[in-house]
Amino acid sequence: MLNLSGKNALVTGIANSRSIAWGIAQQLHAAGANLGITYLPDDKGKFEKKVLELVEPLNPSLFLPCNVENEEQIQATFDAIQQKWGKLDILIHCLAFANKEDLSGDFSQTSRLGFNKALEVSTYSLIQLSGAAKPLMTEGGSILTLSYLGAVRAIPNYNVMGVAKAGLEASVRYLAAELGPQNIRVNGISAGPIRTLASSAVGGILDMIHHVEQVAPLKRTVTQLEVGSAAAFLCSDLSSGITGQILYVDAGYEIMGM
Ligand SMILES: NC(=O)c1ccc[n+]([C@@H]2O[C@H](COP(=O)([O-])OP(=O)(O)OC[C@H]3O[C@@H](n4cnc5c(N)ncnc54)[C@H](O)[C@@H]3O)[C@@H](O)[C@H]2O)c1
Repeated sequence: MLNLSGKNALVTGIANSRSIAWGIAQQLHAAGANLGITYLPDDKGKFEKKVLELVEPLNPSLFLPCNVENEEQIQATFDAIQQKWGKLDILIHCLAFANKEDLSGDFSQTSRLGFNKALEVSTYSLIQLSGAAKPLMTEGGSILTLSYLGAVRAIPNYNVMGVAKAGLEASVRYLAAELGPQNIRVNGISAGPIRTLASSAVGGILDMIHHVEQVAPLKRTVTQLEVGSAAAFLCSDLSSGITGQILYVDAGYEIMGM
């Protein structure tokens, strides 16, 4: 029943084979979606080469650089979608950044610059990409972002990223309210801890994963592909009545009190 054929999906946030966005891209492809992939460009073109090699088997029909701090690259991404696809159905926002020094130690010592950087890249980018996607989602659509429990609970070391994720989850609700009349749904997945490039910057990530393995009802954490499966559901017509929600894909950890 899960069928995304005929749907154009833009996936942001693939850095390597551990990326949650890679799990999502694989599941959207398996469900028949036509993919566009963006990557974070760097001076030496390292990411471009690595990500291109990784995604080639999924035959993306668009492959573009897009640093969300760069307005021109965002504009160029959505111009390319307009020209090549004519319409967009699915937007996957799967990226975040905070300075490493802001992901451990005392939260009260977060710098103004570090706060602004984390919130701009991790939170404002959802608003910005959704605004750019809106006029292209002419047949309705689905926007999905990735959050973490640190948005609603105080998690050791998650610090400024918890504030960014709280803002992200509120943005999901405000965007869902605005875009609903256009049949554009906006949801978030709050994923359990997974070892990735981004999560390795959070102090004590391995301890977090081991704790989840002991406490979560399923006695393990989740995989990128499990998050991808839930993402495919939230981007498909099977979830046509769901918008503005945060779905926990965390092996049940969130329900536990002890
Ligand atoms: N790994 C986890 O435990 C976990 C849990 C819950 C939520 N998340 C969220 O999942 C999302 C993906 O993270 P991940 O864990 O797969 O790590 P990842 O490092 O694989 O992905 C993060 C991505 O963000 C991109 N990025 C950073 N700055 C950018 C910028 N300025 N412009 C464009 N792209 C930029 C990176 O290139 C990378 O592809 C993030 O929002 C993260 O907070 C992760």
